[in-house]
Amino acid sequence: MDAVARAAWLRETLARHNHAYYVLDAPTVPDAEYDILFRELQALEQQHPELLTADSPTIRVGGEALPSFPSVRHVVPMLSIRTETDTEASGALAFDQRVRRELDLSDADPAVEYAAELKFDGLAINLRYENGILVQAATRGDGETGEEVTQNIRTIRQIPLRLANGAPPVLEVRGEVYMSRPDFERYNAKQRERGAATLVNPRNGAAGSIRQLDPKLAAQRPLSFFAYGLGEVQAWDMPTTHSGVLDALAMLGMPVSEHRVTTHGAEGLITFHAKIRALRDQLPFDIDGVVYKVNSISLQRQLGFVTREPRWAVAHKYPAEEALTVVEAIEVQVGRTGAITPVARLQPVFVGGVTVTNATLHNEDEARRKDVRIGDTVIVRRAGDVIPEVVGFVADKRPMKDLFGSEPLYQPYSSPTTCPACGSSVEKPEGEAVARCTGGLFCPAQRKQAILHFASRRALDIEGLGEKLVDQMVDNAILRTPADIYKLGVLAIANLERMAEKSASNLLEAIARSRNTTLARFIYALGIRNVGEATARDLAAHFGNLDAFLLADEAALQEVNDVGPIVASSIRHFLDQPHNVEVIEQLRAGGLTWPEGEPIRRDALPLNGKTFVLTGTLPNLSRDEAKAMIEAQGGKVSGSVSKKTDYVVAGAEAGSKLDKARELGILIIDESQLLELLKS
Ligand code: IVH
Repeated sequence: MDAVARAAWLRETLARHNHAYYVLDAPTVPDAEYDILFRELQALEQQHPELLTADSPTIRVGGEALPSFPSVRHVVPMLSIRTETDTEASGALAFDQRVRRELDLSDADPAVEYAAELKFDGLAINLRYENGILVQAATRGDGETGEEVTQNIRTIRQIPLRLANGAPPVLEVRGEVYMSRPDFERYNAKQRERGAATLVNPRNGAAGSIRQLDPKLAAQRPLSFFAYGLGEVQAWDMPTTHSGVLDALAMLGMPVSEHRVTTHGAEGLITFHAKIRALRDQLPFDIDGVVYKVNSISLQRQLGFVTREPRWAVAHKYPAEEALTVVEAIEVQVGRTGAITPVARLQPVFVGGVTVTNATLHNEDEARRKDVRIGDTVIVRRAGDVIPEVVGFVADKRPMKDLFGSEPLYQPYSSPTTCPACGSSVEKPEGEAVARCTGGLFCPAQRKQAILHFASRRALDIEGLGEKLVDQMVDNAILRTPADIYKLGVLAIANLERMAEKSASNLLEAIARSRNTTLARFIYALGIRNVGEATARDLAAHFGNLDAFLLADEAALQEVNDVGPIVASSIRHFLDQPHNVEVIEQLRAGGLTWPEGEPIRRDALPLNGKTFVLTGTLPNLSRDEAKAMIEAQGGKVSGSVSKKTDYVVAGAEAGSKLDKARELGILIIDESQLLELLKS
């Protein structure tokens, strides 16, 4: 093969692998192989510069920084879409009615066919292909004139530099450049590590990268693309529907989202809106709504435009997941284990479907990393059912000491040196992010939390013993420790504010009922740091009775499933405090009972000391079932393969854990062999 043919073959092969990897997400060759071909093409082009073509993958990155972006006049203006701000089903209904009216359809006429797709939250781009080769990329600008950003767009691996066979002489593809959530998180993590500026959200990330004058900087920001329409087209036997256009673009190698349907009437649109709303938080990128388009291109032409917006399309929004508001104060809360948690008090803001008035800043390190200060305008995010969080602040809205000064009015957050609830000193051990009050149960804030935890549903489950009541009882010295709960009389309770005699006796009944409990609930209720419900259950099953648990040293504790040195040490630390032992004894004296048993003799169990790792899907057993069966016989189930692993139980589609097991020469068994082992 001569150099010309070889170079052409390399370009085409690399383009194919690139498409499989970045667009179809189904790699066809190992990375190393791609690199070899890539380097061969690079070398060839260096020897024969005349072989370098505009669609060569070697020139995705490499252009010089520009002084400014040239402007580009769009042959076909880039329109915007009318937005339906009514986020309910009625929004879809209104659009369908408008379309039917414009088309002079009566109720007797059939439903209109629509293409429904996602509304991507990024930056609109026009890609111009001439004879299949990407020659120009431009932003939307004012719709008539945009900026030429070809160099930066070339760095996006998902965008083909050359279309597949069958491309017309001129084809402009329109779509959205965006940054995926995982890419955004990864990019920000890397920036943080370097101490460099982070991005506020993926949309700013995308827009900022495209407007970067130096393509080398743009190339460092990972962007993606979805096509959703056309600009100028010459000499193309065009599909007659919008969905057909998107299918054709996908065939030509353009990335097109799989989340699209053709459907009929308002009902079909409403179904799509609801389906995508439920899916929204699982998508790896942000959307702020869906878009409905009349599917027939000839009907689109018939409908035409009103003031730069087509009558045949509408964006139907979802409630925003991010909003701006102002930090009124940063307060601290003291948790059950003394953890000092900064909380931003916010001007109420409606976001993600609820009104948010405060957001946790988690801990001192996190608060300083985000550098949120009093008076700041901040971005609050509430996605799905996730608790609201402060994403970041808006730099040019930060209150300053004076008009011209550069010094902020407020200082960065730092943990108080003494506990706001009890005045004890606050300590933050080296290397830990969390500052803690050292007051222990002397601290009323910790005491309240300890009592609330003790009474909570998954612990002793005392109905009616809620926050307001506990606050009052601790402040009035009626309750000091959880043990005091069982000494309460009706008079003490009924005298409290807003407490009728009836509710007092209800509470006493709930307290009486809670006396019959289980050892697992009791251990969980103690509120030992690092001992959650699951660990409490394991501890109860292992030791069988309270005395065996109280006497266990750290080594004995570590024999319990999932208990390592950290958990063992926090348990021992808790049980070594005389006041904790005193509370436990008082609780026993207060009449708490549970069925007691003998400790499990682990050394008598067949799988004692054996560590298993489960990977892939087993044919019959679920992961939890397999885990429970192994643990019942004394085995441990770990999440990762190491030299200490005895068996790897592999099912279908086992991944890297299986490779690791092979590498380390660990025994690999399947489900039937596991069942054999459990039987023997
Ligand atoms: S179609 C003639 N489809 O929304 C209609 N636009 O106001 C032209 N957008 O900035 C646009 N997803 O970048 C269309 N599936 C989609 C879209 C979409 C996001 C953006 C577009 C533009 C804005 C339109």
